[in-house]
This record gives sequence, C-alpha cells and structure tokens, in this order.
Amino acid sequence: MIVQGRLLIDPDHPPELGWIEISPAEGDAPAMIKKIAFGEIPDDLAPPTFGGRDRLICPAFADAHFHVPQIDSAGCDGMPLLEWLDTVIFPAEAWWGKGGAIPSTRTAARRLVNQGTSLVAAYLTAHAQAAQESASFLAASTPLRFIAGRVAMDRCAPESLTGEDIARVSGTPTPSPIMPNLSKSPRHRVSVNPRFAISCTPELLAECGWALRDRPEVIVQTHLAETLPECARVRELFPNTPHYTAVYDEAGLLKPGALLAHAIHLSDEELTIIRARESIAVHCPSANLFLEAGLFDLGRTADEFGVSVALGTDVAAGVEIAMPRVARAMIEVAKALRMTRTGAAAARIKVPTPVEAWDMITRRNANLLGAPTCCRLEVGAEADLLVLRAPEGWFDEHLVGRIIYNWSSDLIETRVMNGQLVEPSSI
Ligand code: GUN
Ligand code: ZN
Repeated sequence: MIVQGRLLIDPDHPPELGWIEISPAEGDAPAMIKKIAFGEIPDDLAPPTFGGRDRLICPAFADAHFHVPQIDSAGCDGMPLLEWLDTVIFPAEAWWGKGGAIPSTRTAARRLVNQGTSLVAAYLTAHAQAAQESASFLAASTPLRFIAGRVAMDRCAPESLTGEDIARVSGTPTPSPIMPNLSKSPRHRVSVNPRFAISCTPELLAECGWALRDRPEVIVQTHLAETLPECARVRELFPNTPHYTAVYDEAGLLKPGALLAHAIHLSDEELTIIRARESIAVHCPSANLFLEAGLFDLGRTADEFGVSVALGTDVAAGVEIAMPRVARAMIEVAKALRMTRTGAAAARIKVPTPVEAWDMITRRNANLLGAPTCCRLEVGAEADLLVLRAPEGWFDEHLVGRIIYNWSSDLIETRVMNGQLVEPSSI
C-alpha cells in the first residue's frame, strides 16, 4: 500500500510532499512503515492507494487514560468526583456485568477510531467475565492497540462491583482473578487496575502488588490525588500511612511505567517518590475541568520534579474523546493556571506549545505507554496513520496549532490502522 501526501513527520517542521510504503501485517507481526520518501512517487511504483498531493499525512493518536464502560456517561454534570462515581459511574459499570460489555466496547472502539486514536490505555470493569469479553472483542474486531485490565475494587461501591474481589479475599470457591487472562492478542498488553485507594482495602492493594511481582510486562493503572475530598477520605481510610502516594508505594504498585491518573494534589515528597519509582502522571485536563478537580501544574510535575507526564481523555469525566481536543484543553488549563499567578510565580507556570502538545498525543504518549514503535511516521514504525484534509491556508508555521484548535473528526479523510483502511462504522 502506498500513501501519498505532505508528511507530518516532525511537528516542528513544515510537512513536505512525499509517500509512505506500508508492508502488510503477517501473523502476529503488525503492518509496518517500510519506506518513507520525499517528492513524487516514482513511475514504476503503483499509484497511491490513499491520500493525494494536497493531503496531510500524520500519525494516529495515543490516549493514556480511558474507561471503556463509561463511553455513554459523558456530560452528567454538577457533581463532585465521589458523588458522580456513586450516582453516574457505578450504575453504568454495574450494567456491564449484566450483558452491557460488548455493545459499549463496540461504541467505544468506533468513537476512538473515528477520532484517529489507535493506541489506548483503558479500564474495563470489576467483572472478570465481562472484562474478558470486552478485551477479546477489542483484540478480534477492532484495529486498536490497547492496554486494558479488569478493575479491582472491594469497598465503598455497590456489591455488584465489589462482589468479585470480596469473594476472592474471603476465599469463596469461585474466585475471580485479579488479572484474568484477557486475550492473547499481540496488540493487547494486560494491566492491573486497582480503581483508587478509596475503593480498595489494604489487603486488595497488596494482592494487586503481589500479582505484579516479577511481571514487568504488566502495567499498573490507578487514580491518584484527583480531588481534595478524595485525598481527605484516603487519609481517613489509611491513618497510618504518611500520604496518598505511600498507600500505593507500600503495596508495591509504583512500578516503572505505572499510569497514575490525575496526580494533581501531591506534595513535593510524593512527586519525588513518583519520580524515583519511574511511574507516570497521566494528565487528564478535560476531565479535571469537568469535575472541577483542580488545575494540574505541568511545569512543577514534569520540569521541577522530573516526573514523566502522559495525556489522557479520561472518558467519561473527560468529555472529549478526541486527543487533539485534550491537547487543546491541556494548553488552556496551563494558561488558566498562569492567570491565577503574578510575577515570578506566573513565569514559572509552563504552558505547552501546540508542537509540544502534538508530540504528547502521538510519539510521547506512545513511548510512555511502552509502545515506542507507535504513533509516529518512521521507517519500522507500526502502520497507524491518518490522511487529513487540511485547508491550503493552514500550511504555515502554525499548522499544528491550527489542527489542534480547529479539530473535528471531519478533518480525517482516511484512517489506516495496522496497515488497513478502517471505517469506524464497520467495527
Ligand atoms: N477515581 C476512581 N474511579 C474513577 C473514575 O472512574 N473516573 C475518574 N475520573 N476518577 C476516578
Ligand atoms: Zn479515570
């Protein structure tokens, strides 16, 4: 397959006309970018399968935090986090265990692919069977590359969600594993997802930590310090632990690459620990605005403390499923934070440029998700790319900013994922 267009290889440089040759997937090996060249397609090669001289070719996007079962729950406004979980999210997730998993997984996959996302780190629910069905569907019926795992939770939620973990801890005969064998697909990497410290007893957190021992291939996903009332509740539930981060650290959950969603309300000591463990803060700006969780300080987290920061939608607290819109929210949140300060304090606030934001939703997120061959136009990279129809007037030094601020899935003419043309409606 040949894709032709202006190649957005490095967001810092204007894209030049060229073409990409893709070699198809073979067995477990993904479709790859075999060749990238600038200029016209040589006469002896087949004409382009996709794209065209006036099209823009860019990598597909990576989302570092997503809840598959919450795909239809966005927009239920007016509640703080803990009330929103009780009122909106736990009922939606309970429905999963009663046959809702496949329809909602299909919807989630369609919408992700529609917005150009090809790599996603996702939560399923606490139902081992439904989680297994969902992961099998994602692996067999969608082009997505995904990190996903069953959610572990054994308290402060309805029994329909906590029951499987309560039964296992108490040794009931049909235990549900912490980490069910969800799929054998090479495009799936399994994760252990203790929901957050409020939903998990110390015993369950320790069990999650044990499940991870000597399994470097397994990713940890959890939520950390999203809102102040949540942090206060964690202090009540873990009175003998110095701080929220230590709750996870003592359970052995802060592994390299652990994805810690939100990570807003953290002390210097906590950020130092996260840096030392090489865990990752996942910034979810759209979600943080929706729940009024707080204004994440990117400069403090990333530059001052050296913590790696990835970017996620956090659907459904995040009301945006499109990563370019989340990139825009990240820039806007940073600007809003800067407006709350004056003088030297304002100057210390880091506002990412559109180019930096674009890098985060493509190559950088993929690197942090342990997929260094994804979401980039490079020979040897996986063949997940988008053909965009961008207006001619956009092709200047502001191209990436124009795409981010004007994003609509209508910009996408063609989605190529795992080397194949994908129509979201066919998933
Ligand atoms: N904290 C614990 N669970 C959740 C969730 O589902 N969404 C968000 N935004 N925060 C959480
Ligand atoms: Zn979340």
